[in-house]
Amino acid sequence: MSHKPIRKAVFPVAGLGTRFLPATKAIPKELLPIVDRPLIQYAVDEAREAGIEQMIFVTGRGKTAIVEHFDVAYELEDTMSERGKDLGVLDSSRFTPGDIITVRQQVPLGLGHAIWCARAIVGNEPFAIFLPDELMIGDTSGSGAGTGCMKQMVDAYADVGGNLISVLEVPEDEVSSYGVIDPGKTKGALTEVKGLVEKPPIAQAPSNKIISGRYILQPEVMRTLEGQGKGAGGEIQLTDAMAKMIGTQPFHAVTFAGRRFDCGNKLGFVEATLALALEREDMGAEVRAMAQRLLG
Ligand code: G1P
Repeated sequence: MSHKPIRKAVFPVAGLGTRFLPATKAIPKELLPIVDRPLIQYAVDEAREAGIEQMIFVTGRGKTAIVEHFDVAYELEDTMSERGKDLGVLDSSRFTPGDIITVRQQVPLGLGHAIWCARAIVGNEPFAIFLPDELMIGDTSGSGAGTGCMKQMVDAYADVGGNLISVLEVPEDEVSSYGVIDPGKTKGALTEVKGLVEKPPIAQAPSNKIISGRYILQPEVMRTLEGQGKGAGGEIQLTDAMAKMIGTQPFHAVTFAGRRFDCGNKLGFVEATLALALEREDMGAEVRAMAQRLLG
């Protein structure tokens, strides 16, 4: 069966990043770097690897630097060229005109509302969603080494179509911070989704499999979000809209083969920085020696 390809991705990036203040007072949290790549760049690279062409940023006030990052920095490039510097370091931040699109979320009403703000640009196509706080790094060993989370999902989508979310297992006492799935039958990396609940109390969580920030959704979700009331935390929840679509369209979870760092909190951010620095060819050995020295 052939399914409409996934060409568009929505990145909700309007959040205030209060957990990282004062760093995020003037700089969007999505531009904080893990070593030398901003968080948003990791997500955008993951999207491109999966064949996605158009990046739709749902932004807010004070977030324009994200768009600047993906623009041509004329003065910078001119000066670097004059000095004989390699411009290749900027390649991943280059885009075909028209492929970076922004829309503003004027009021912070929740993730579901942020996604709904992109409805006119998404149109009548299936689309991907990336929560850039969640840094997903594909397994570096085994077959398919290094394949990113969205590429793994797009490959699964080619088989089953419909709606897909990435999931991973967390310790039971963490489930109430996330969207949780009620799992059905599992086949390989694919699990049927029978139900979804946003931030349930531990006792009511249907499993410890949480939604980890990557989605492939059919455009009908926009209609479902239309007029949807508030859910957990008084916010318009994407999870609630997805839950309503179960039974009307195929709905699967993909268990990601790789590691996930929750860069929405400081500990996760530091862990990601250390883990990725240790793996870099250009600095890994020095970082290891440095860490050993610091640990005494
Ligand atoms: C959001 C989603 C939740 C998901 C989480 C992943 O929650 O609503 O379902 O599990 O992202 O990070 P938030 O972290 O915005 O509260």
